[in-house]
Amino acid sequence: MIYRLLYTLLLSRFDAERVHRLTARGLIVVMRLSPVRRLLRALLAPRDPSLRVHALGLDFPSPLGLAAGFDKDAAGFDAYAALGFGCVEVGTITAQAQPGNASKRIFRLTRERALVNRMGFPNAGAVAAASRLSARTPDGTIVGVNVGKTRLATDAYADYRESVRRLAPHADYLVLNVSSPNTPGLRDMQTVDRLAELIAAVRAELAQAPRRPPLLVKIAPDLSDDDVDAIADLALRERLDGLIATNTTIDRGALCDPAAPDVPAEGGISGAPLRERALAVLRRVHARTHGQLTLISVGGIETADDAWERIRAGASLVQAYTGFVYGGPLWPGRINRGIARRVHEAGLCGVGEAVGTGAPVEQRARSAH
Ligand SMILES: Cc1cc2nc3c(=O)[nH]c(=O)nc-3n(C[C@H](O)[C@H](O)[C@H](O)COP(=O)(O)O)c2cc1C
Repeated sequence: MIYRLLYTLLLSRFDAERVHRLTARGLIVVMRLSPVRRLLRALLAPRDPSLRVHALGLDFPSPLGLAAGFDKDAAGFDAYAALGFGCVEVGTITAQAQPGNASKRIFRLTRERALVNRMGFPNAGAVAAASRLSARTPDGTIVGVNVGKTRLATDAYADYRESVRRLAPHADYLVLNVSSPNTPGLRDMQTVDRLAELIAAVRAELAQAPRRPPLLVKIAPDLSDDDVDAIADLALRERLDGLIATNTTIDRGALCDPAAPDVPAEGGISGAPLRERALAVLRRVHARTHGQLTLISVGGIETADDAWERIRAGASLVQAYTGFVYGGPLWPGRINRGIARRVHEAGLCGVGEAVGTGAPVEQRARSAH
């Protein structure tokens, strides 16, 4: 309520990226004070044991993670986790530092409860991120590292390999982002042949790494159903650890009012308009992979009911970006409490028992084998 008022009266009047930068910096500075950090953790950290999820070989304190793009440079993951996220996915990080697209590049569509962004992976590069990540404590926040292609790189495979070489030692899990709409040609890497080649290149790099984190691929919501199936099959064939579905959509038809004057022509849409398609892609991938892959669902999650629906549709973990922006700092705690309540109401011991229970019976039976 207070955040909604603050958002309407103040925050929404300033450039979205500036507000993001200032609030992120403020939170990171405040969180350096250990009494504040301890207090926030005590108040907001997920404590209900029913929220714990074992996935990707890791013990997540909650299934709710902060989606990629919020902590692009791995500068504030501990601060965000203290608000109640079970995990923070940092990035997208590219091998070389780059400025991203020209501003203005984040747009709020408040009535649609959506954002449009055309950031283009601004970040300080893999070396800088690796040095920040190397300072974290082993029992601290679970951090997924999301890597993408440097815009000017001519050899995409070598570029991903360089990021992986630098970042794999510091990642709890690693994500190949081939689905952002704001780097020219990136989404073409989602064809089965190119993706297989990318996975092979990254695996060759991981074979020489001091540790091999679980490997996932993040896909776009704008793939055809056949392409979603083909990637799901590939993920099984290649023994990927998981898939993240989905990134932002370029489909303006997802909006209630695509012709509204505040809708920019370019950029990926996130938030409420993405909800249906993200859920449909999750259901499709779950049906195709029979519960054999860890699925992370992201796109349009605003409420505990949304998160619960994704979990029952087959997601072991869920993530959000836009729901957090509109919901404010107490939003992760609200979602955690809501999920825990649904676990108890369903008579389950833990959220993991709910994964896939909303899928058609024949799929559930197959995934049990
Ligand atoms: C401003 C902004 C920047 C983003 N940057 C990235 C990124 O760098 N890498 C990535 O994989 N996804 C990025 N995303 C996509 C989100 O991680 C997420 O997949 C998408 O927004 C859908 O979730 P949501 O509806 O909860 O926002 C970004 C989203 C937004 C709104």
